[in-house]
Amino acid sequence: MRPNSSPKILSAKQHIAFAADLPLADALQITKDIAPHVGVVKIGLSLFVEHGPKAVEAFQQLGMQIFLDLKLHDIPNTVLLATKQAAKLGVSYLTVHASGGQPMLEAALEGSSHSATPLKILAVTVLTSMDSPQLSSIGVTDSIEHQVLRLAQLAQKSGISGLVCSPLEAKNLKSTLTSKMFLCTPGIRPLGSAAGDQSRIETPSQAIKTGSDLLVIGRPISQSREPQLTASEIEREVRDALLTRGH
Ligand code: C5P
Repeated sequence: MRPNSSPKILSAKQHIAFAADLPLADALQITKDIAPHVGVVKIGLSLFVEHGPKAVEAFQQLGMQIFLDLKLHDIPNTVLLATKQAAKLGVSYLTVHASGGQPMLEAALEGSSHSATPLKILAVTVLTSMDSPQLSSIGVTDSIEHQVLRLAQLAQKSGISGLVCSPLEAKNLKSTLTSKMFLCTPGIRPLGSAAGDQSRIETPSQAIKTGSDLLVIGRPISQSREPQLTASEIEREVRDALLTRGH
């Protein structure tokens, strides 16, 4: 087992990932506009199932780092093979389910080591769409908070150094986990933007101050009348918050 890539100082825009939950052409157009302020594009299952590696390449040509949100969960050998392929694409972040277990998480790390550029594996703990009754229906009778912590600790024990979590879980995870974890958080809403279907939200500034390292932001940018202006305001907010927190 080797620890997932070493920490380095990121610029403010590298802390912001645009969730490209749109048809590819529309997502590329917005990305061109916001590229001065946003460094990462999150490609989810829908775009990747439709366009495959071509979607990755298209955003890379705009100078973006890629967050491939495939939430892998399979037997270790299959995850190893898939992660090696993702590594060849030159993506920067790749998600796997922590509930796949330690051998699967170690296989993902092994696969990520085949990348020529740094590839950080991010472990997803409990999906925010799961509530307590759903968790108990799959045999987990602990509270969601305990299950999140258990899976975060399992990921850490497997050598994974990044987690996807709600911004409201970030503070607890940062203080409870022994080594410094890189935390990626969706559910970010700048002041004045619609919450949509997100219920547990924080502003970019609050999220950075409570320990988030990569903010996933979709609709506040894609549904803004002026995506570039919105992205520039988010970048400024993130830069100011990073100064307060001292990176
Ligand atoms: O548009 P919005 O900013 O809500 O987009 C958030 C992104 O983060 C979406 O791609 C969504 O699927 C993803 N996500 C989330 N909550 C999670 C995990 C991922 O909103 N717990």
